[in-house]
Amino acid sequence: MSTGDMPNRPVFRRVAIVGLGLIGGSLALAIREHGLAGTVVGTDRRDDETLWARDHGVIDEMAFSAADAVKEADLVVVAVPVRATRDVLEAVRPALSDHAVLTDVGSTKGSFIQAVQAVFGEWPERVIPGHPIAGSEKSGIRAAHGDLFDRHKIILTPPDSVAPEALDQLTRLWEGCGARVLTMSVDRHDEVLAATSHLPHLIAFSLVDTLAGEDDNLDIFRYAAGGFRDFTRIAASDPIMWHDIFLSNREAVLNMIDHFTADLGQLRQAIESQDGERLLQVFSRARAAREHFSKMLSGQAYVNTEQQNQVTFRLQPGGAAQGDIRVPGDKSMSHRSIMLGALAEGTTEVTGFLEGEDSLATLQAFRDMGVTIEGPDQGFVRIHGVGLHGLQPPHGPLYLGNSGTAMRLFAGLLAGQRFDTELTGDASLSRRPMNRVADPLRQMGAVIETGEGGKPPLRLRGGQTLTGFHYDMPVASAQVKSCLLLAGLYANGDTSVAEPAPTRDHTERMLNGFGYPVTRDGNTARLSGGGRLTGGPIDVPSDISSAAFFLVAASVAPGADLRLQHVGINPTRTGVITILREMGADITLENEREIGGEPVADLRVRYAPLRGIRIPEDQVPLAIDEFPVLFIAAACAEGTTLLTGAEELRVKESDRIQVMADGLAAIGVDSTVTDDGIEIPGGQALRGGTVDSHGDHRVAMAFAVASLRAEGEITITDCANVATSFPGFDRLAQEVGIRLTVEACE
Ligand code: S3P
Repeated sequence: MSTGDMPNRPVFRRVAIVGLGLIGGSLALAIREHGLAGTVVGTDRRDDETLWARDHGVIDEMAFSAADAVKEADLVVVAVPVRATRDVLEAVRPALSDHAVLTDVGSTKGSFIQAVQAVFGEWPERVIPGHPIAGSEKSGIRAAHGDLFDRHKIILTPPDSVAPEALDQLTRLWEGCGARVLTMSVDRHDEVLAATSHLPHLIAFSLVDTLAGEDDNLDIFRYAAGGFRDFTRIAASDPIMWHDIFLSNREAVLNMIDHFTADLGQLRQAIESQDGERLLQVFSRARAAREHFSKMLSGQAYVNTEQQNQVTFRLQPGGAAQGDIRVPGDKSMSHRSIMLGALAEGTTEVTGFLEGEDSLATLQAFRDMGVTIEGPDQGFVRIHGVGLHGLQPPHGPLYLGNSGTAMRLFAGLLAGQRFDTELTGDASLSRRPMNRVADPLRQMGAVIETGEGGKPPLRLRGGQTLTGFHYDMPVASAQVKSCLLLAGLYANGDTSVAEPAPTRDHTERMLNGFGYPVTRDGNTARLSGGGRLTGGPIDVPSDISSAAFFLVAASVAPGADLRLQHVGINPTRTGVITILREMGADITLENEREIGGEPVADLRVRYAPLRGIRIPEDQVPLAIDEFPVLFIAAACAEGTTLLTGAEELRVKESDRIQVMADGLAAIGVDSTVTDDGIEIPGGQALRGGTVDSHGDHRVAMAFAVASLRAEGEITITDCANVATSFPGFDRLAQEVGIRLTVEACE
């Protein structure tokens, strides 16, 4: 959050800053620029710096000793090098007023507390250590600037006994400077910083020093490439400050150095023994981790992902649906390609892989279990399979983000491993029912604990013997079916699953493609445990669930003519085409072909007036993910559309019946909700308004399509999760003529 030029009310009457370096000076400037204190008085060990600060408007008043500076101050900020802290505290203590809040800005907190305790004999309730995660390679007052902390984190490590009003005041001061305030314990702070800041600086200093000591150092530096420059940028930092930091944060830094040297030793060993596999494993894991972190942190340290990237879609009415596009790869197949590729023997090369958050979560989970995966790079992924029994125990819980498919399929795949695992997810996934997989898996012999009410997290106990069985699924769910078939790979004997209505059969098709026989007898899929999978190429077609937004877009936008290339048209997925055609849509399949065991076609769709229908219940599982956008089609049709038998929609990424009905109401469309469906009278005006997508990707995209027939602007909030299934949706929507703009803020 940036405060911009907003005037603030002073939080403190008189702030004393002891130490006018980069941080102290910048804080003085920020406090003054934002009107956060009545007076800022400053002092520095060097009088010329103090004078400069006063003459250049960094401080209001100057003092020539720390004791003078802190007199009558209600906030004292110690901004001196870490090792000088104790002397400063001793000097200011006699002059400190009782109600003053005392803080610091040092990079290590344990040492500050030691100094506080040495001087005060205890840790007073108004002493709140602080560490702004901001700075630069430049040092000194002349480099100070008032927006140094804007959009940066400040970590406070208050004592348990902290005076709440003191913490509140200090928090408001930092927030007023544009910073985001986090609190943590002193020990945690020092450990985290040793790993993320201190060790990298140590390595940078050390590497530059080593190279500078080489005989031909001039040449080395002359030819230094960008990588060297990037890597060693931080070796330009202030040596005194870093000398202080390493001596002060001794224990935590030593632990990190030991850990790092052990890992470096292993890499050395891998190079010596020409172990390319090991190198590739470490490098690709590191690259993926870095991407993961940068996404999570978006360039800043310690961001809470839940608050990050609030994305809003803003749509102007009108717009068109014209062109020839290819939507990203199929989500269901992308998950399965990684899963089966990892469990196969040999290498699996995937093209068309969906680089969405959901399938990336699956990919990351296998890396966490020791599988080497190259990519993804423009949809290409190469998986070095480890065989059915080659997974390694992960170091911590497997985090599966928003993905219900990942969690349910992993439950089956991991139930028969020799090690324990824990599966966690985001807020939405943590509300979704997991007993539908936990119960039948237990019947096979799995030991699984769920969270309260059968919700995540899932804890799976390793080392169990699974026994194949027959399961009659009470709900038509491809996730449950796939989960049990994957568990069946590890079970003794046959596992068979009967479905009450056909559901997507990608697991069965892909297992067969990997040479693992799955048979079908009527509504029952069956396999025997103990076989093996063999890796091979997989071409993932475009996701019909993503294409669906454009099928509806072109059906409702007068004059539209759109071609969607290379879309998967597996008959267990084409309910959306059947339903739209029944409503009068003009959709033709061109260039039908079969690729890698899955039918594919180009879809041409032209505008045609739609009419309301009663949606056949047997189509529900075949179009289960497409209902949000089908509701928009219904709202644009003449006559009423009635959906029944779709209670499953209530337990998707959101309660899609209620959330869609609320969204429709927000843009002026009345509907009637029932337990298992909805009735939408068509022909109403879509007036426009603000829709809360509840973080549900498909709800967000559905309302973007509604703009094509809206009379006013539609604003859709909480849209970041569109990236779970359809990265680049905004660009493709714009390309065809939907008038979408994206607003993102932290
Ligand atoms: C999926 C199955 C469906 C679907 C989900 C993907 C799959 O869930 O909604 O987006 O890949 O198996 P259910 O099995 O719960 O219906």
